[in-house]
Amino acid sequence: MSEHDCGGCELEGRRDFLRAAASLLATFVALGAAPAVAEAMTVRTGSALGVRGTDVTYPIPAADGATIDKTEQVILVRFQGVVYAFNLSCPHQNTALKWLAADKRFQCPKHKSKYQPDGTFISGRATRGMDRLAIRREGETVVVNVDVMFEQDKDPAGWTAARVTLE
Ligand code: FES
Repeated sequence: MSEHDCGGCELEGRRDFLRAAASLLATFVALGAAPAVAEAMTVRTGSALGVRGTDVTYPIPAADGATIDKTEQVILVRFQGVVYAFNLSCPHQNTALKWLAADKRFQCPKHKSKYQPDGTFISGRATRGMDRLAIRREGETVVVNVDVMFEQDKDPAGWTAARVTLE
């Protein structure tokens, strides 16, 4: 039996699957969107493993998402293989930021400034990205120094470097 005689055989089923997958990928490309990791972002409130002076320790997040620690005023984010720590306050006028699950981004409830999951400024009254805190890896934890904050407009290099890359 030739390849063309197989009718509804398993090979044809695989071809249909591959065609469907290629079509889906083409749709993502046409929309200018990679299969968005932000799709999987989960946000929850949480607390630190421990606090030692200005060092606050958290477990490395197991998956993309954000943990909001109201006690320490920290938002810990894992996004696309990188962990960031942000000051909970909006850089415009210090309102506590919120995660908008439907839009997959942070937004300030006061004047609606919008930010990507990595803190990049999108739009609104703020004039910079979300303020990042110094962060380092220690084994299976990350340690955030809540006393060292990087403002993107004043220290762009420090802001960019304030991250822990996991992969
Ligand atoms: S306080 Fe956040 S945009 Fe004004």
